[in-house]
Amino acid sequence: MTTPAASPAKVALVTGASRGIGAACAAALGQAGFKVAVHYRGSEDKARAVCEKIPGSMPFKADLSDAAACQDLIKAVTAEMGPIGILVNNAGVSIDQVLPFAKPDDFDTLINTNLKPVFLLSKFVTKGMIRAKAGRIINIASVVGYTGNAGQSMYAATKGAITAFTKSIALDLAGFGILSNCVAPGFIMTDMTDALPDQAKAAALAKIPLKRFGTPEDIAQAVVFLASDNAKYITGSTIHVNGGMFTN
Ligand SMILES: NC(=O)c1ccc[n+]([C@@H]2O[C@H](COP(=O)([O-])OP(=O)(O)OC[C@H]3O[C@@H](n4cnc5c(N)ncnc54)[C@H](OP(=O)(O)O)[C@@H]3O)[C@@H](O)[C@H]2O)c1
Repeated sequence: MTTPAASPAKVALVTGASRGIGAACAAALGQAGFKVAVHYRGSEDKARAVCEKIPGSMPFKADLSDAAACQDLIKAVTAEMGPIGILVNNAGVSIDQVLPFAKPDDFDTLINTNLKPVFLLSKFVTKGMIRAKAGRIINIASVVGYTGNAGQSMYAATKGAITAFTKSIALDLAGFGILSNCVAPGFIMTDMTDALPDQAKAAALAKIPLKRFGTPEDIAQAVVFLASDNAKYITGSTIHVNGGMFTN
């Protein structure tokens, strides 16, 4: 028998919220009434611009590939804004290379940026959530963590691991009223995908039944749903937001 999840608390921390999907999640959570902690690494001006549009929000700087910075981020947000009710693990990078040319250092970068902070931030945030007997951890995975993708073995490995991690902590944390889910985007128009060659973009578009790339706002709406009271019986799940590229 598990404890039913209480209503989400008010503070939502979104990592990588200076740009792209994270910025859209921060804006949508702000609109939904959350106090938003806007995390960034280097894009300070952009993070401040995001905050200007969200009443009650604050920017927080941290390089999440530094393990100590992950713990400090949770402490800083809690001290400045109050207990964190929603953690959106969104920050991430993509480094693409076919396996024979893939560099071990790049694999380390991907693990240390995309995966390890998801573990560390989730671990550190649960202390306060356990005390509150409520909380939501929402991890941004990827369609390629399910399907695989040529040239993305390293990146896909981090995203597949996020999905497995999310399902596992859903079991660890259900008894404390803490829910953990993923949103798995398909091809979303951000700086990350803008960097791809036109040929790769055309090949991706051909695989999308809804015949358009996704927007950051498409992802943000799924995140807001998972943060809301309407999602109180959902844990260990993934919402695929990809225009029909893949469903399960
Ligand atoms: N775009 C897509 O099609 C797509 C598809 C599937 C999954 N996703 C996932 O969605 C998430 C967001 O992607 P996006 O396309 O919005 O990316 P983006 O526009 O490139 O933004 C990446 C964000 O991550 C932050 N970041 C990068 N390295 C960091 C580090 N070491 N420490 C802290 N923050 C760091 C950046 O911060 P600064 O700019 O402040 O440095 C930025 O806010 C990622 O996890 C990505 O893997 C994206």
